[in-house]
Amino acid sequence: MLLSLAPMEGITGYAFRRAHAEVFGALDRYYTPFISPLPKVGTPFSKRNSRELDPANNQGLDVVPQLLTNDADRFVWAAGLLADMGYKEVNLNLGCPSGTVVAKEKGSGLLRNPNRLEAFLANVCERSPLPVSVKTRVGIASDDEYGELLALFCRCGIAELIVHPRVQKDFYSGSPRQELYGKTLELAPFPVAYNGDIFTLGDYDALLAAYPQTRHVMIGRGIVANPALAREIRGGEGLAREELKRFHDKLYESYTDDMGGNAVFRMKEWWSYAEHAFADPPSVHRIMRKTRRADEYEAAARKIFSTESLADSPRFS
Ligand SMILES: Cc1cc2nc3c(=O)[nH]c(=O)nc-3n(C[C@H](O)[C@H](O)[C@H](O)COP(=O)(O)O)c2cc1C
Repeated sequence: MLLSLAPMEGITGYAFRRAHAEVFGALDRYYTPFISPLPKVGTPFSKRNSRELDPANNQGLDVVPQLLTNDADRFVWAAGLLADMGYKEVNLNLGCPSGTVVAKEKGSGLLRNPNRLEAFLANVCERSPLPVSVKTRVGIASDDEYGELLALFCRCGIAELIVHPRVQKDFYSGSPRQELYGKTLELAPFPVAYNGDIFTLGDYDALLAAYPQTRHVMIGRGIVANPALAREIRGGEGLAREELKRFHDKLYESYTDDMGGNAVFRMKEWWSYAEHAFADPPSVHRIMRKTRRADEYEAAARKIFSTESLADSPRFS
């Protein structure tokens, strides 16, 4: 089974990937949060994106960069830059549900017009120097849209389809429409991956029981809340407080090196997931909530790690 980390903008950048691999052992694969905007043809990646993609920041990890665009020329140009950096695959984001992204016909907004999507995808698959995998939602508003979308994916020569079986209008609510993942497994001529709401070993086992052909599971919030989840799935130990603290310290140090005072803001975003690793998430939340300065933040983190116990079975909710 291939276990990968989902791209999560603002969370699973290179600092997170590196700290995760060091403390919990590397996952089989990591996807970068979406890279956008892409450089104009003939120009390099921005400074910020270059840091995210720099092979030195991703050493020893299998990393697939994800691009968010509807501009085929820029996609192909960016894929060329990535090939020169040594990457072996590039991923296209067809899942982002954010209103501003969708309004520009990017992310899941591209799913609204299947003809335009097919022209774009066929074009980039033909010209990209790297194999193109796709991470998609199953439509904009309804299950009924997926048949046509899946048929076009099957015609375009993509390397893999990662299915997050929600529609754009779901955002993250409701249950994933897993039967549409099952339909993909039946029909697709390319490898297929599942993504969505795998928060515990039990969720993973249930997915495998329903779809035993599964070969790649991508996990996002479940691993951010419980960074030992993949190890548990592989039959290893559950999360221990000392290693969560070690992970926290590495992450905070990297963010502080990169962005100084803004590290607190980034870490608080991480805590909104990590609080679910604790027995009493509201209590952890209260301790963190009002911190602003680095010294306040550090005192709050120390307090949490010395007074709050971990949940027996951490679960993002
Ligand atoms: C804060 C946040 C940021 C995200 N950023 C991205 C992104 O950059 N690219 C992407 O394809 N999906 C992104 N996603 C979606 C996740 O990759 C994933 O599809 C979603 O969280 C469902 O999987 P999960 O239930 O395992 O978390 C994001 C989700 C969240 C909550």
